[in-house]
Amino acid sequence: MTDSATLKTMAGEAALAHVEDGMRLGIGTGSTAEAFVRVLAERVRDGMKIVGVTTSNRTETLCAELGVPTETLETVPELDLTIDGADEVDGSLRLIKGGGGALLREKIVAAASERFLVIADASKKVETLGAFPLPIEINGFGMIATYLAIRKAAAGLGLEGDMILRRSGDEPFITDNGHLILDASFGRIGDPEALSQALFAVPGVVEHGLFLGMANTVILAGDDGLETLEA
Ligand code: 5RP
Repeated sequence: MTDSATLKTMAGEAALAHVEDGMRLGIGTGSTAEAFVRVLAERVRDGMKIVGVTTSNRTETLCAELGVPTETLETVPELDLTIDGADEVDGSLRLIKGGGGALLREKIVAAASERFLVIADASKKVETLGAFPLPIEINGFGMIATYLAIRKAAAGLGLEGDMILRRSGDEPFITDNGHLILDASFGRIGDPEALSQALFAVPGVVEHGLFLGMANTVILAGDDGLETLEA
């Protein structure tokens, strides 16, 4: 069995094949995105010219350490390609993201890109989204009211289950944009589009981890090699 780090590097190397000289590149967050940054950094050292826009402070720090040049989405608001990981991928290229807490910036950066390429190990492929708890980014103001409103909205779609406030040690986890995250274990999400709409209708919800109709390509690395899914 191929170990997880090797699978992530395989996925990162496969993603690199989609990167061309001169590209404006959205760069995701998480261990798979970081594997991509490491192979990208080698290519940059060899002379490839790209400009990256990162999706988290964590990825920004890694790019700085490895010498991958970055700008912000303010200075480079339109991107050619974004490469990012995912927590779950279904057969229609719908995703759950946000396990690393960067969902808001990840969605903004992916939406600003001509193409969105997702890389993951094959264990992330699922029949139906929802085994991985859905991250929901909320404003801190009125968080209990927002929590209760989300519960009600989800229950209206037949989705029940625990929602827990993400923590970092003894403190609530705070996103790069100063918000909180609820991890919602709704179970099988039969209609992700309806859930997305219902969540966005709740005041206080800043973003959620359902990435629907966004990914153009998904590359999955498994024991048997690479599998590519196209939208
Ligand atoms: C961060 C994300 C990550 O892409 C997702 O959690 C996958 O991470 P990893 O590659 O470490 O499994 O959405 O917000």
